[in-house]
Amino acid sequence: MGAYRIAVLPGDGIGKEVTRGAIEVLQAIATRFNHQFEFQYGLIGGEAIDRAGTPLPTETLDMCRQSDAVLLGAVGGPKWDGNPPHLRPEKGLLAIRKEMNLFANLRPVKFYASLADSSPLKADIIQDVDFVIVRELTGGLYFGKPSGRRVENGEETVVDTLLYKREEMTRIITVAFELASKRKKKVTSVDKANVLESSRMWREIAEEVAKEFPDVELEHMLVDNAAMQLIRYPKQFDVIVTENMFGDILSDEASMLTGSLGMLPSASLSTTGPSLYEPIHGSAPDIAGKNKANPIATILSSAMMLRLSFGLHEEANAIERAVQQVLTSGYRTADVAKKGQRVVSTKEMVDEIKAAI
Ligand code: NAI
Ligand code: MG
Repeated sequence: MGAYRIAVLPGDGIGKEVTRGAIEVLQAIATRFNHQFEFQYGLIGGEAIDRAGTPLPTETLDMCRQSDAVLLGAVGGPKWDGNPPHLRPEKGLLAIRKEMNLFANLRPVKFYASLADSSPLKADIIQDVDFVIVRELTGGLYFGKPSGRRVENGEETVVDTLLYKREEMTRIITVAFELASKRKKKVTSVDKANVLESSRMWREIAEEVAKEFPDVELEHMLVDNAAMQLIRYPKQFDVIVTENMFGDILSDEASMLTGSLGMLPSASLSTTGPSLYEPIHGSAPDIAGKNKANPIATILSSAMMLRLSFGLHEEANAIERAVQQVLTSGYRTADVAKKGQRVVSTKEMVDEIKAAI
């Protein structure tokens, strides 16, 4: 077996710290299972703006396209907040998603018994929660044109556009059904069909796709209700499929079911090239550079990479088991620690997970 080529884009802020941790864990896997991972590094986001004058340099994109999979940290920070739209770090993220056709963002939300006391929610609500948010990632409100400000009849006006092609809706909803058919066989399609025409078409397409999966139950839910149901009774969900921005917001909300944003991994899948794996959190400028960030979201993202891009199931399980074991042993980064618990650094957490592997 040849080496797996992994393009690593640490990005900004804690992105650097958490990707370093995930790479060390992957190296531990390589040693234990006798694999070879070849890591190549690229610039994206704020640092790319500073050093290459653009949030997504061509060299980065080329390197990613030639890799077997991409591991990304996070981008952004206050330093670039005042930049014009084309020189914002997040532009790099949106661009790589679009350029690599990473349309299917899978965000598993899983309850960890040992973290039951880290969630602000009651244990009996979050116990056994196990669902996946399938977020459309290359269309919808974050990409639609026109987008921008203009003056109309002397009045300052601004527009963003929620735009989808039928095919874009069909393929993401199909991903959700395929996933549900291997799980608990239920898809909750989340939209705002009482108001938005785009959502009414989304709903129609969901009904059409559902016909091809007779063993999977389809339920429609309005996004505002979904936000409430996630807190009221999250166990009802198996697979949630939704538009780009709705999925962005609902998944941050869902992270609280596990205790922290620092716990949620994600996979951004393409059917035409390599896929990308990243934590759902951002660059966390408030804790960046302090060796405090929770690396688990990124480490679990690398496990998803092993499973979904390389078919290394046993190796992915080994990472997930190691994370479980370390949490069960009581190791906590600050974000998931309760009063009185001993807090470990990013690096200590990584070392413990490596040791468990
Ligand atoms: P954020 O996700 O970076 O942080 C939100 C809060 O969660 C902060 O208090 C942070 O300390 C905490 N947090 C996040 N990840 C953590 C981890 N691994 N361990 C411990 N605590 C963690 O979102 P925020 O603050 O709204 O945005 C900061 C910057 O990140 C902005 O520039 C934003 O545009 C960017 N961003 C980038 C994303 C990406 O690269 N995928 C996603 C979201 C935001
Ligand atoms: Mg987000």
